[in-house]
Amino acid sequence: MARASTGSSSSALVSKLLISSLLLGCYCLVSEAQTTPPLVKGLSWTFYKTSCPKLENIIRNRLKKVFKKDIGQAAGLLRLHFHDCFVQGCDGSVLLDGSASGPSEKDAPPNLSLRAEAFRIINDLRARVHKECGRVVSCADITAIAARDSVFLSGGPNYRVPLGRRDGLSFATREATLANLPAPSSNTSALLTSLATKNLDATDVVALSGGHTIGIGHCTSFTSRLYPSQDSTMNKYFASQLKLTCPTATTDNTTNLDIRTPNVFDNKYYVDLMNRQGLFTSDQDLYTDKRTRPIVTSFAVNQTLFFEKFVYSMLKMGQLSVLTGTQGEIRANCSAPNSATTYLSSIADEEEGTSAAF
Ligand code: HEM
Ligand SMILES: *[C@@H]1O[C@H](CO)[C@@H](O)[C@H](O)[C@H]1NC(C)=O
Ligand SMILES: *[C@@H]1O[C@H](CO)[C@@H](O)[C@H](O)[C@H]1NC(C)=O
Ligand SMILES: *[C@@H]1O[C@H](CO)[C@@H](O)[C@H](O)[C@H]1NC(C)=O
Ligand SMILES: *[C@@H]1O[C@H](CO)[C@@H](O)[C@H](O)[C@H]1NC(C)=O
Ligand SMILES: *[C@@H]1O[C@H](CO)[C@@H](O)[C@H](O)[C@H]1NC(C)=O
Repeated sequence: MARASTGSSSSALVSKLLISSLLLGCYCLVSEAQTTPPLVKGLSWTFYKTSCPKLENIIRNRLKKVFKKDIGQAAGLLRLHFHDCFVQGCDGSVLLDGSASGPSEKDAPPNLSLRAEAFRIINDLRARVHKECGRVVSCADITAIAARDSVFLSGGPNYRVPLGRRDGLSFATREATLANLPAPSSNTSALLTSLATKNLDATDVVALSGGHTIGIGHCTSFTSRLYPSQDSTMNKYFASQLKLTCPTATTDNTTNLDIRTPNVFDNKYYVDLMNRQGLFTSDQDLYTDKRTRPIVTSFAVNQTLFFEKFVYSMLKMGQLSVLTGTQGEIRANCSAPNSATTYLSSIADEEEGTSAAF
């Protein structure tokens, strides 16, 4: 069984598999090159093969340009997919105007605030994809592919994403949003309990938390560990540096989640934890708790293992309560359900897309 491409020999293996899968006209690549959880009914590896064959190229080529200007957007897009999936399933509902951490939400608490630019990037990708193929690809699928490309283009593993998600018709309540996203102040027990409701186990919890190898956090997400008294599990020098960034508990400032390689998707997040330099309680406690500590250590010493487990857990997360088949819809605008758009403008969108496809 081969693993996610992390070295030249495995990428050579991947291209060999790719060539043989093309020759044989099958999609052996997936089952052989990547360990995957069972697919949910309605999702498939080849969903847009005939309806939008260029889909993944369009997204990757566009994101390469976006990240060249600002690699921080990769973190924003990865977190967007996480918030989408954890609240009401991966149905693009986080993208809707009015959702608790959505594009129009000006007073979401900072622990929820997603980057405004991430929503614009998804809408721009949707426009490019629909121009090429017509309105056939969902906003939820575009978000899942964008998250994968964010991981890969930041230095992480490449992997295939099962597709066929449909977009939800409504966004989750603020209460449901808060109830489904664990707080950064959570300890490991709370995380394990919370994620178990989504059928995610301790390995999934540790692997998915590795998403914090890129991106930033606001002071208010971690200053309870500094004031009024310092969390004893935090490295003292690290704490003194954080106090310079956040002189008060409510300073509006941000800092990197991974102090070693803040913009690279690698296993250094786990090395941070072993050095008591995890930013949130939810991060650092994974090394304190006996149940998860060996998993943290195993990822810190073996990046290949981390990449393998991360891909597996992302595929599990990416299939949470998805809508498929005739459920939901394919949104013409990721920020609004189709019922909110006029009939004429959505028809015009489709015709433009159809003519561009020929
Ligand atoms: C396990 C429970 C999790 C908790 C408690 C948590 C909490 C947080 C918090 C509080 C922030 C910073 C928000 C801010 O202060 O601005 C953050 C950022 C981030 N999270 Fe998580 N998170 C969790 C899981 C995940 C997962 C599963 C992923 C993806 C696989 C992820 C990816 C990210 C990324 C990439 C950022 C940086 C975003 C940016 O730079 O814009 N997190 N997370
Ligand atoms: C976010 O902060 C609000 C108040 O600022 C709090 O009620 C909520 O529980 C926090 N949620 C998360 C997910 O951290
Ligand atoms: C973890 O957090 C929960 C909820 O805040 C608390 O009841 C529990 O005592 C904590 N467990 C440990 C081991 O600190
Ligand atoms: C924000 O953090 C930077 C870097 O640590 C620091 O130099 C600056 O003073 C902080 N801003 C405020 C308002 O405290
Ligand atoms: C690291 O993990 C990979 C993937 O599970 C495994 O094949 C490899 O033997 C491990 N390397 C070491 C040095 O343990
Ligand atoms: C998409 O929907 C949002 C929310 O209704 C709206 O503000 C925006 O103008 C729409 N975009 C387009 C291109 O129609």
